[in-house]
Amino acid sequence: MKNICLNIDKVASFIPKEKIAAYESQVKAAMETLEKGTGLGNDFLGWLHLPSSITKEHLADLKATAQVLRENCEVVIVAGIGGSYLGARAVIEALSNSFRWLQARQNGPIMIYAGHNIGEDYLSELTEYLQDKKFGVINISKSGTTTETALAFRLLKKQCEEQRGKETAKKVIVAVTDAKKGAARVTADKEGYKTFIIPDNVGGRFSVLTPVGLLPIATAGFDIEKLVEGAKDMEALTGSDVPFEKNPSALYAATRNALYAEAGKKIEILVNFHPKLHYVSEWWKQLYGESEGKDRKGIFPAAVDFSTDLHSMGQWIQEGERTIFETVISIEKPNRKLEVPSDEENLDGLNFLAGKRVDEVNKMAELGTQLAHVDGGVPNMRLLVPELCEYYLGQVIYFFEKACGISGYLLGVNPFNQPGVEAYKKNMFALLNKPGYEEESKAIRARL
Ligand code: PA5
Repeated sequence: MKNICLNIDKVASFIPKEKIAAYESQVKAAMETLEKGTGLGNDFLGWLHLPSSITKEHLADLKATAQVLRENCEVVIVAGIGGSYLGARAVIEALSNSFRWLQARQNGPIMIYAGHNIGEDYLSELTEYLQDKKFGVINISKSGTTTETALAFRLLKKQCEEQRGKETAKKVIVAVTDAKKGAARVTADKEGYKTFIIPDNVGGRFSVLTPVGLLPIATAGFDIEKLVEGAKDMEALTGSDVPFEKNPSALYAATRNALYAEAGKKIEILVNFHPKLHYVSEWWKQLYGESEGKDRKGIFPAAVDFSTDLHSMGQWIQEGERTIFETVISIEKPNRKLEVPSDEENLDGLNFLAGKRVDEVNKMAELGTQLAHVDGGVPNMRLLVPELCEYYLGQVIYFFEKACGISGYLLGVNPFNQPGVEAYKKNMFALLNKPGYEEESKAIRARL
């Protein structure tokens, strides 16, 4: 069986290979710090050996609950924000039919997301859509107090109880939250919902392989055993005993730090050539943005969907400020087969493509873009993924997580906290006159 692999050949003209190799001792030290738990944020290392510690019983429990939701719901709403929703959405959308929504026959519930914004129109339109649906909710919040999620859940709980009755609601509402604290825990215990615990030592953006991600993914009908197996294999492939040049996470962390520190590349763009991967990029953006963007440091994580965005962002990437590098997630083999048909009249002039797979056209777009961007001054890394399935997504998830931990330590920050996220919340609560924020309310109003 193949594994995902990282190709950094197209970085060589920007940073000599020896400079990347010179990171070996720092990377080794960062990995040792992670393993020994002696670095900053060491109370949030539960993700490090999570894949190899997940038991069959735990997966069976998750699958049984997912089955209850699948049997009793046409629609399941995943309520959560940031790390409490992006991983699940990334995997579900990467594996789902692009037009699942529009298909008359659904194999399992439609998955919908809420609690990740405070848009009145969004929530009102969702309420309206759910009016005639048998729906259930997976309410995900580690703190149990996040405003966006709590607000959406309040609306959804009320609607579910009114439409389906309190008894059924109890069966189709599941909480994924802290073992003891937070309003989500209090509500779940009082109402008697089935609950799953988010371990204390796993931060939101590293939590996709906890019930935060696994329950929604199983509910959508995907194989969480395979996902965990892929992650577990990648845990071994990125272990401390693997030589630097063979360890993809070590190599990725070293290369991006070398580009940042020694070639002035301050922005990393994660690129895909399959629209299904859009939310993988969103998940990745949070993972790296929240982990590294602190102490006035950090590569800015951006993302584009190609070839779509070549027609909007392509100009900037080709010829704008030369502070960017790209990491392309390249899917080697598509899951389906579609050939370009021949056309007798050839009015569109496309007969030179007749008989070719659509994927071959896509691959040539990928290769052509890579060469053009490298010529234009954009270093390019490629993460080669044999195919889009649970197993390889598990590998991708752990590959990026491990690299993120190493990379944060190379940068000299605590990759596992997110103090900056609190600033907007404090102001919002003050502006909304939340009890306990009286002083802040006065102060902020004086500034308006
Ligand atoms: O990564 C993080 O810690 C955050 O993105 C959180 O996941 C997000 O803020 C949601 O928090 P909570 O799960 O407490 O509702």
